[in-house]
Amino acid sequence: MISLGIESTAHTFGVGIITAKGKILANVRDSYATVSGGIHPTEAKDHHLKVKDQLIDIALKAANLSFQDIDLLSFSQGPGLPPCLVVGLEKAKELAKKYDKPLVGVNHCISHLEIGNLLTGAREPVFLYASGANTQVIAYDGGKYRVFGETLDNGVGNFLDAFARELGLGFPGGPKIAQLAEQSGMYVELPYVIKGMDVSFGGILTNLKQKIQSGKFSKEDLSYSAQETAFAMLVEASERAMAHCEKKELLLGGGVACNKRLQEMCRIMCKERNAKFFAPPPDVLTDNGLMIAWQGILQRKVASKKLIRFDIRPRERTDDVGVTWRSIKKPC
Ligand code: ATP
Ligand code: FE2
Repeated sequence: MISLGIESTAHTFGVGIITAKGKILANVRDSYATVSGGIHPTEAKDHHLKVKDQLIDIALKAANLSFQDIDLLSFSQGPGLPPCLVVGLEKAKELAKKYDKPLVGVNHCISHLEIGNLLTGAREPVFLYASGANTQVIAYDGGKYRVFGETLDNGVGNFLDAFARELGLGFPGGPKIAQLAEQSGMYVELPYVIKGMDVSFGGILTNLKQKIQSGKFSKEDLSYSAQETAFAMLVEASERAMAHCEKKELLLGGGVACNKRLQEMCRIMCKERNAKFFAPPPDVLTDNGLMIAWQGILQRKVASKKLIRFDIRPRERTDDVGVTWRSIKKPC
């Protein structure tokens, strides 16, 4: 069985193709970016409309397949920006109708998690999902991926992007902050906000804005300090969840998980706890169609040709979804 997945929740339009055995046949994408300022949903939608057909052709060519060879279609149903989600939904429905293929809608966040399980071999991890819009500490328990801790305001990536905007840098800001941080080793004290396994970034951002305005601190030192503070909070929440759930694995996912310093901090924590640390390759950490195609394979039993059933789910949470495709039921 071969599955083609379409991702379009936010800045990226991605197309992935994978077999039921997990063989990767294609994973192509094009992302909306800005020179300065943040993501504009209508502009991102226009970007997706422009690149969608071309990317599907490129993916099929890369896999050396025609559409007739595809057995299953899947798309990101949510969470995400409604104008962007609609582009993926409409394209998936159009293809399913034209080629008479079964279609499945999947949750974007859970897809990040499951592609990590597939590619790293993690079995029972605590999952640190650190992306733009989402920051959650997740573990499987009783038929669902439960959220043990999460951000109480912005996702860590949106926090880094907003901080980058304050420094006059464009979207995505995370990689630019990472570059600046590498040029400093000087920690400037910032608020450290963790409550149980929940974190919050709003106060740190306000503090950073004040420090930028004061003109007393370099961009590099502030970037270094923002990363050290935010990532220490994420590592602390993850460690607490690992202790609570007695899990011996940590799996990273989401765009911010590309960050080498975050990976290093997680690796050190896991080593100290005698736990295993897993991070999938960068091209599946950021938004991609491959994870959507794989999630389609996992959920193929609920695939349908009744296209009227499909809609977008802009606010669907990780713990709204019943995990029907997993057989292991170890209590947390
Ligand atoms: P989700 O819908 O899952 O929340 P998303 O739409 O935010 O995902 P992702 O591709 O998972 O998209 O993550 C994008 C985020 O990752 C952006 O905020 C970006 O700044 C951040 N990011 C990417 N690379 C790095 C990096 N090396 N260091 C820090 N942040 C990074
Ligand atoms: Fe994502």
